[in-house]
Amino acid sequence: MTKDLDKPARTGGGPGHVAIIMDGNGRWAQSRGRPRLFGHHAGARRVREIVSACPDLGVKYLTIFAFSTENWKRTQSEVAGLMSLFRRYIMKEMQAFVKENVRVRFIGDRPRLDKKLRGLMDEAEAMTSGCTGTNLTIALNYGGRDEVSRATKRLAQDVAAGRLDPEKVDEETLPKYLDTCVLPDPDLVIRTSGEARISNFLLWQSAYAEYEFIDTLWPDFTAEKFDELLSHYGTRDRRFGAVSA
Ligand code: FPP
Repeated sequence: MTKDLDKPARTGGGPGHVAIIMDGNGRWAQSRGRPRLFGHHAGARRVREIVSACPDLGVKYLTIFAFSTENWKRTQSEVAGLMSLFRRYIMKEMQAFVKENVRVRFIGDRPRLDKKLRGLMDEAEAMTSGCTGTNLTIALNYGGRDEVSRATKRLAQDVAAGRLDPEKVDEETLPKYLDTCVLPDPDLVIRTSGEARISNFLLWQSAYAEYEFIDTLWPDFTAEKFDELLSHYGTRDRRFGAVSA
């Protein structure tokens, strides 16, 4: 059965778009004397739980940071293990996403990813393109500066080709060239594992987002914890630079 996400968000106006920096898999595994990949696998299981919780929590858009443009600096075996996890994850979850009415999108620079993974990403996007429930965006080989650079390049090409008048470039122009062009800006950005950094995630898009930096390691981040954070968000007064009414 598919879930209807067009119901209003929780009382108090919950965040329609939540972005998550899923950090702490490595430490979670190491504290159990297990290899880092064990933590990434546990993290992947949490992704499933959090995505499934979105309809009941009134979250229409969920964007998760799975692999950054900087993560290639990890050991070859960790990178290979993560790539294999992403391939298996997409293969395994595709049917479940369709069943749960989840629309999947990917952001990030695709050419560096292997062909098989890119094929699966295209397939997941195509298979779920008619889904109208939760919008799940997975950032894979994503970096905010890289995204802005790629967007600027395309914008400059349009100017050079006479398709865009440079005098008309304003705050509405660049977002149209970003990977996230069809998504609203995030309302809330969560980072797990106690680090208070944004690590190049959604730099342009999060200009007015609220932030939650929590100590919980990603594999311990349950749907209940997610719910608690969202309740907290409902108590905030977002002014977007203006004063309260
Ligand atoms: C950061 O933890 C996590 C990552 C770089 C990978 C995120 C990947 C997942 C949660 C796995 C599954 C995701 C999908 C979409 C299938 P870390 O390794 O930096 O942890 P540490 O800071 O404790 O070392």
